[in-house]
Order: sequence, then C-alpha cells, then structure tokens
Amino acid sequence: MNENYPKHVAVIMDGNGRWAKTRGLPRIQGHKAGAESVRRLLRGARKFGIRWLTLYAFSIENWSRPEAEVSGLMRLLTTFLAQNRNVLDEEQIRLRISGRRSDLPPNVEAALAKTEAETAAYTGPQLIICLSYGGRTEIAQAARRIAEDVKNGILAPEQVDEAAIAARLYLPDVPDPDLIIRTSGEQRISNFLLWQCAYSEFVFLPEPWPEFTEDSLQRALDIFASRNRRFGGIVDSHGSSAQPAT
Ligand code: FPP
Repeated sequence: MNENYPKHVAVIMDGNGRWAKTRGLPRIQGHKAGAESVRRLLRGARKFGIRWLTLYAFSIENWSRPEAEVSGLMRLLTTFLAQNRNVLDEEQIRLRISGRRSDLPPNVEAALAKTEAETAAYTGPQLIICLSYGGRTEIAQAARRIAEDVKNGILAPEQVDEAAIAARLYLPDVPDPDLIIRTSGEQRISNFLLWQCAYSEFVFLPEPWPEFTEDSLQRALDIFASRNRRFGGIVDSHGSSAQPAT
C-alpha cells in the first residue's frame, strides 16, 4: 500500500445517463450499472487503505428528475444495501448518510437508519452516502443552528469561527476529503462538499461511472500521490490531511 495515498476519497459518480443512452437503454439501467461500480469501488477502497469513502449518490437538485428515475434510484439504493450488507459486516464497514434525510421516502430512510445503527460500532472504513445533499444547504443549516445557539445564549457572536461552522455540518467528525474524483469528463463541483473541499485535490476521469474499475481508482490515487499538497504554505507535503504528520 502506498503511504501517499489519500485517506478520504469522495466521488462524483457522473455519466450513468449518458452511458445508458449510448447503448439505447433506459437511464435507470445506467444507474444499475453504476451500482456495480460502487461494489468495485468498495473492494478497491479496502485494497488501497481508504478510510472514508464519500459518494454523491443523489443531490437536492436530482429531485427534479422524472418521477420514474427518482423512484428507481431510491429502489436501487435499498436493493444495494440489502445485497451488500454481508460486505459491510465482513469488512466492518460503517455506513453513514449525509444530506437532508427528512426528504427521503420513509421506507428508504428507515432502511438506511437501520443499517447505520447496526454498523455504528464497526471500526473499518466508513462508507458515506450523500442523499438529498447540497453543499450550500448544508452550510445554510449550519448557519441556522449557529443563529439558534447565539439566540439561546449557548454561543457568543465572537465565538462564531470556522470551527463553529465545521462543528455544525452534517458529519462533523469526518475529516475533509483529500481527493475528489469526478468521472465522465465533466470538471465541476456541482454543489458537492463546498465547505470540505477547501484543500482537496481534484482528479477528473474521462470514463463514465458505469465503466469505473479498480484500475480507474488506482489511476486517480496515483495522480493524487504524485502531487504536492502545500495547504497554502510552502512546505511540500504528500498524501493525506486526515492524519496529519506530526
Ligand atoms: C449521475 O449520473 C449519477 C446519479 C445522479 C446517481 C448515482 C447513483 C448510483 C450510481 C446508484 C447507486 C448508488 C449507490 C450508492 C448504491 P447522471 O444520471 O447525471 O448521468 P448523466 O450526466 O450522463 O445524465
């Protein structure tokens, strides 16, 4: 294992729809093939020592897609969880959800909450699935909680700093992603982890998400490992911020 590999990798799994379209298939078939890529990614993450894996599975903006695609995606999620539960158990993978979870259909939310609770004590890698997620919404809810805490006398205005905001994000204990991968050739952040990506490295891969393999992952990790991360300073630093060198 390469010690310069990232500890926290976040992925924008783009290109399912286009992959399906070029094959004359309905979009949901692209998402189904995308779920297989998630399985491959999980295997690769274990092999390469990734401790946090964050997946952008459904954005707040995605609710505007046709109802059939939205409900197909929700079904796919619960099926994926059921089919891969043994992997979570065997590998001690802890599932966590990030996003405005109250938007989710109650049965989907319940299935996710059950798996989260049952894997909460697992000490292996964390699989974080972003659902009904929007970076601006996440920051706005942190701001609202700060306003409430100030109003209730829990926090003084002078105490509102970066740490106070970070502590009120959806998963405050998770370190910022070292690497953000986006597939399918698009080069944008699309409202993903806006606060957390301040010092992330970005790698854009040309293949659509259904064609993502362990090899794609290794390519992205090698690009990451070859870069110098300086965090605004001048000292060369390879690798992850998740476990800073002493
Ligand atoms: C973006 O491709 C992908 C999505 C909006 C959904 C991603 C969901 C999965 C891969 C399903 C399985 C997920 C998990 C966590 C099991 P797009 O549809 O925007 O593609 P396009 O840009 O080519 O239209």
